[in-house]
Amino acid sequence: MPGRILSGMRPTGRLHLGNYVGALENWVRLQNEGWHNFHMVADWHMLTTGYENTSDLQAHTHEMVVDWLAAGLDPERSVIFVQSAVKEHAELHLLLSMLVSKARLERIPTLKEQIRDLHLDEQTISYGHLGYSVLQAADILLYRATHVPVGEDQVPHVELTRELARRFNFVYCRDREAVFPEPEAQLTAFPRLRGLDGSRMSKSVGNTILLAEKPEDIVARVKQAYTDPKKARASDPGRPEADLSELDAEGRPVHPGCVVWEYHRKFNPGEADDIARRCRSGELACVPDKRHLAQVLGDALAPVRERRARYEADPDRVREIIADGNVRARAVAEETMARVRDAMHLGTGALEKTR
Ligand code: TRP
Repeated sequence: MPGRILSGMRPTGRLHLGNYVGALENWVRLQNEGWHNFHMVADWHMLTTGYENTSDLQAHTHEMVVDWLAAGLDPERSVIFVQSAVKEHAELHLLLSMLVSKARLERIPTLKEQIRDLHLDEQTISYGHLGYSVLQAADILLYRATHVPVGEDQVPHVELTRELARRFNFVYCRDREAVFPEPEAQLTAFPRLRGLDGSRMSKSVGNTILLAEKPEDIVARVKQAYTDPKKARASDPGRPEADLSELDAEGRPVHPGCVVWEYHRKFNPGEADDIARRCRSGELACVPDKRHLAQVLGDALAPVRERRARYEADPDRVREIIADGNVRARAVAEETMARVRDAMHLGTGALEKTR
């Protein structure tokens, strides 16, 4: 049965195919199946690693929401809003922060990865950054979401969210109905799309295809994609999949699989098996295969491009959609916080409810 979902992204500006396959596509599908969707621009989360640079926040929020709408989120059915416009996120974050130990937060793998990737010093990490997952739990629980459609990298946050829901209900709701459902992560069937060079897709690496990419630019981007380095001539037998017979020092395959074929599997599943067969047999060379993929991607993104053009021409409409989403999100957030305060004996009790 369709439930209520909450998911969000940090406002990094224009989105790429990895964001689409990892999350956005799933959001749109659930919306179209009749789920009750809430989608949040996590601008406060952006501060955890970028508190000094806030000048682009609003522009990036706008661009990202345009991509959401272009991908097919329908503002009539999905609530699209901005975290910082709903102050209850901060209130719930504070209350939940009492229910989790510092040691538990330090063990969260996502935080450890950030420390490693951004070369941060564990000793100087901010109080707010340590609380990243607590804020994310507040985001999810504030809407009493039952499901959280995210990429696999977000699962540790959802796990903490479940623990906090359980803990809150146990501590404060013994004599009453539980306030929070325990939300479940909802992963996509296709967990992750690699970047064009075969590593993790990321804007900072420059190995992406943007949702907003023009067809001619897609052709140029796909030309750079990693294929099988041993397939030098067209007639050489190619290896679409990873070759597990040859591992590097870290135990990873030297050939992690052809990126072009991975994209075919995702965007061109009907032809993917045949393409692999003709690649292996030496019938199909990389150059025409890439040209074919660029065509497939260009076609797949055509409806996205069309919707994007409409929203790009009307920025006021986009601002209106966000303002309307903020109002709808606030209504739910206020209702949840009334229950939370009541369960915790906070505020002025009965007076509060008549506000
Ligand atoms: N951490 C998520 C990301 O980096 C963004 C996010 C913030 C989020 N709050 C959320 C995702 C709540 C799902 C649910 O992409």
